[in-house]
Amino acid sequence: MRVLFVSSEVAPFSKTGGLADVSGALPAALSRRGLDVRVMTPFYRAVVQGGWASAACGEVTLDPGGSVQTARIREGTLPGGPPVWFVDHPPSFDRPGLYGEGGQDYPDNLERFALFCRAVLAWVQAADWVPEVIHCNDWQTALLPVYLRTSAEPLWSRVGSLLTVHNLAYQGVFPPEKYALLGLPQDLYSPRYFEFWGRVNLLKAGLVFADILSTVSETYAREIQTPELGCGLESVLRERAADLYGILNGVDYTVWDPRNDTYLPVRYGPDDLSGKATCKAALQEEVGLHRTPSVPLFGMVSRLVEQKGVDLVVACVDHFPAAGAQLVVLGTGDPRYEAELQNAGRRHPGWVAVRIGFDERLAHWIEAGCDAFLMPSRYEPSGLNQLYSLRYGTVPVVRRTGGLADSVVDATPEALERGEANGFVFEEYTPGAFWGAVQRALAAYQHRSTWEKLVRTGMSADFSWDRAAGRYVDLYRLARRRRGAVPS
Ligand code: ADP
Ligand code: GLC
Repeated sequence: MRVLFVSSEVAPFSKTGGLADVSGALPAALSRRGLDVRVMTPFYRAVVQGGWASAACGEVTLDPGGSVQTARIREGTLPGGPPVWFVDHPPSFDRPGLYGEGGQDYPDNLERFALFCRAVLAWVQAADWVPEVIHCNDWQTALLPVYLRTSAEPLWSRVGSLLTVHNLAYQGVFPPEKYALLGLPQDLYSPRYFEFWGRVNLLKAGLVFADILSTVSETYAREIQTPELGCGLESVLRERAADLYGILNGVDYTVWDPRNDTYLPVRYGPDDLSGKATCKAALQEEVGLHRTPSVPLFGMVSRLVEQKGVDLVVACVDHFPAAGAQLVVLGTGDPRYEAELQNAGRRHPGWVAVRIGFDERLAHWIEAGCDAFLMPSRYEPSGLNQLYSLRYGTVPVVRRTGGLADSVVDATPEALERGEANGFVFEEYTPGAFWGAVQRALAAYQHRSTWEKLVRTGMSADFSWDRAAGRYVDLYRLARRRRGAVPS
């Protein structure tokens, strides 16, 4: 089966969050299953800076709104196999950020990602390789199903589409006057398709036109059909409920496994946890925490945005030293959260360490060196860090929402007895409920056999991509059938 996987960020080339991890790992898992998968993504400045320069293999000419533009196509490969085509259009992508700078989105993001989508289709037409399914991800690629279904080009009538929502809160919403730049019929600017409270909503139209929809956990697939987490699109999603599937993300264990993690000072596995103690000491040293082996160390690696429950951590931060626990936070995002956390670090030297910035190596050190990992998210479509934490023997403390609810089993006496418990889960989005879960973790930490059981249960879980990849293949088959491309 031929699948074109299109994403606005792909690790290791470009990354702001979990979408990049998924886009780097899922295509490789699909090609291991024998699919002919190709990936397309923008050629950002970050790709070049990361040392991923690649040769041009062609170019496409686009005519958006009358001004002719050329984009070069460059060729590379993902570690693990699949070929990657980069869309190289310097005015759009040779910039310091992927989507914006200094907390501000680029004002021309509609133009940038509309150009990207057109370039993808133009290249497929030119490349002599027609996919049976285009797998689109988030609003940046949501125009693809729209162009496929509204174009007069006969080629597209046999190409199916799957649109995966990684985070419904980001919809690609723009001022109404930008609609004309999309080159689409005016009558699609209506509440049924693009129009959303007087503005252009790219994700909404994608959700209407894609053959099949998915999101990144079963719980989130249900949650987004409700007003609480539907972000105003719940009725669009409910209308398409029969075509909407939830598939929990997997983990790329070639990158995220303490047994072979090349970022770590030493490697370790479930059979020998002494390496984890070494990683803890190295982490304490690195971030300036007191180097005490017995003190419980909590960690967090996150975009510092409302979604992630940072306000709960800020509200409780002073309790950690008071309870004899250390905390290390790595993140970047909302300047208010950054400042509040940094102040906490200054108030509690040796106990609370805060690093503002994006640091891949430190993210791995925190996963390995901490005893417990905090993800008190307000909502969480899938979440990857709790899955990484499990593998690193770092017990997750999470809120029961989205993919966190689907992967972390609360340490109740019964679940511990059954050997299923792997973390601590709280319900209510309040500092009290969050701190209650942390206190339960602290109590368990003092009870070595309970803690070791939690650690070992987490480390032995298997969230590899192979299982999830099989479910995506099923969705590709459904999308293909919709187009009548194959009579199955
Ligand atoms: P989201 O995609 O919502 O940000 P996920 O849990 O799916 O959340 O994935 C987050 C990914 O981004 C993980 O790989 C995590 O380690 C990484 N990450 C987030 N913030 C940082 C940071 N400041 N430095 C390094 N890695 C980060
Ligand atoms: C989004 C979500 C996160 C998910 C990631 C990859 O950024 O916030 O929960 O893991 O996409 O699907």
